[in-house]
Amino acid sequence: MILEEERHILNGREVVFRSPKIEEADMLIKYLKTVTGETRFLMCESDEVQFTTESEIEFLKEHNDSPKGLLMLAFVDGEHAGNCSFLQVGGTRRSAHRASLGIALYQKYTGFGLGRMMMERMIEIVKELGFEQAELIVIGGNDRAYHLYESLGFKETGRVPNANKYDDGTYADDIHMVKIL
Ligand SMILES: CC(C)(COP(=O)(O)OP(=O)(O)OC[C@H]1O[C@@H](n2cnc3c(N)ncnc32)[C@H](O)[C@@H]1OP(=O)(O)O)[C@@H](O)C(=O)NCCC(=O)NCCS
Repeated sequence: MILEEERHILNGREVVFRSPKIEEADMLIKYLKTVTGETRFLMCESDEVQFTTESEIEFLKEHNDSPKGLLMLAFVDGEHAGNCSFLQVGGTRRSAHRASLGIALYQKYTGFGLGRMMMERMIEIVKELGFEQAELIVIGGNDRAYHLYESLGFKETGRVPNANKYDDGTYADDIHMVKIL
């Protein structure tokens, strides 16, 4: 689905939320490579981000054209600060009431409330669309994200131990969290 541009104020700074434009594909590949390199708490290593412009355009179209997903970009004073998204879980009627959420900000834009603002807006959107529960996975040790989700009403439902193995040989769990809407 498409989110038309909306303007908010956060700590005196202008925040814009909107869907991506197709011509932003390369900017979004660069974003993914950067944010995966800035933290160990995203889904892969930076060198594993292998979108081409064409495949990224397909990805953007899938989100923009489908009622079952949304990619929401945030801009702070005109600069791209991060993304938050939802996708309906699975492709069957049995899971059609579940929305899977994800978020990643550039490090520079963490810690001033933008994550909370984006998650609150995304929860509002999926609720309005009729989803009954919001779900996400947070990697063990990501205390900031865990705290944020818990304070938004997500409850831990289980862990996959050592779900992530890093290049340095260390491990981290996947923590599953659910919020009933
Ligand atoms: C996780 C993320 C979305 C949070 O967004 P954010 O804008 O940085 O977070 P906020 O500034 O809204 O603060 C979140 C809360 O965590 C708290 N917090 C910060 N660091 C913390 C820590 N180490 N332990 C516990 N809580 C912490 C803050 O005080 C705040 O709580 P409060 O609102 O009750 O005061 C953002 O930091 C991010 O994108 N990080 C990199 C990628 C990532 O980890 N994505 C999530 C994958 S599941």
